[in-house]
Amino acid sequence: MQKLIQLSLIVLLSLILISCGSEKKETQQPQSSAEVGADLTEFELENGVGPIKEKIELGPIDPKLVKRGEEIWNQKCIACHKLDERYVGPAQRDVIQRRTPEFIMNMMLNPEEMQKRHPVVRQLLAEYMTPMTNQNLTVEDARAVLEFFREVGKEKKK
Ligand code: HEC
Repeated sequence: MQKLIQLSLIVLLSLILISCGSEKKETQQPQSSAEVGADLTEFELENGVGPIKEKIELGPIDPKLVKRGEEIWNQKCIACHKLDERYVGPAQRDVIQRRTPEFIMNMMLNPEEMQKRHPVVRQLLAEYMTPMTNQNLTVEDARAVLEFFREVGKEKKK
């Protein structure tokens, strides 16, 4: 008999715990995600927040810069990104079609603030559930990786 009482107590306790747990989740849910981006300028909404504050001139693709960009890609990005498949982060071959060059560079240079303040990156973070970490690139490094993206973006998705 005592065992039975003990058992029902345990069941009761876990039920209470479970319902508390789900209540907590509900109160955490309503984040003010509608307000994210409200303080950004039109330029920032399109091109991201960070050191790149105006449109850059692209010109024809520079093979030397592509090569440098590919080296950085291999050193600092492939832990989380693939060109043609979703990995820890989104596939990047077509990123040049999805985002502006300035957006791409600001994401490379300033991921923390992008995650906090930019609605598109907020959305990505919610989807991928891992924050991209700052790879400490210089503006020149980021420009080189952009050139690499321009080059691989010309090829068809495999
Ligand atoms: C620790 C893993 C990680 C590393 C390292 C990383 N990224 Fe990311 N990246 C992500 C994730 C995850 C996202 C999605 C946004 C988020 O969750 O922060 C992302 C998003 C991006 C985006 C946003 C644009 C889009 O729509 O896909 C670009 C551009 C990008 N990464 C480029 C790079 C480049 C270039 C490097 C190397 C210099 C790099 N990342 C290194 C994980 C990473």
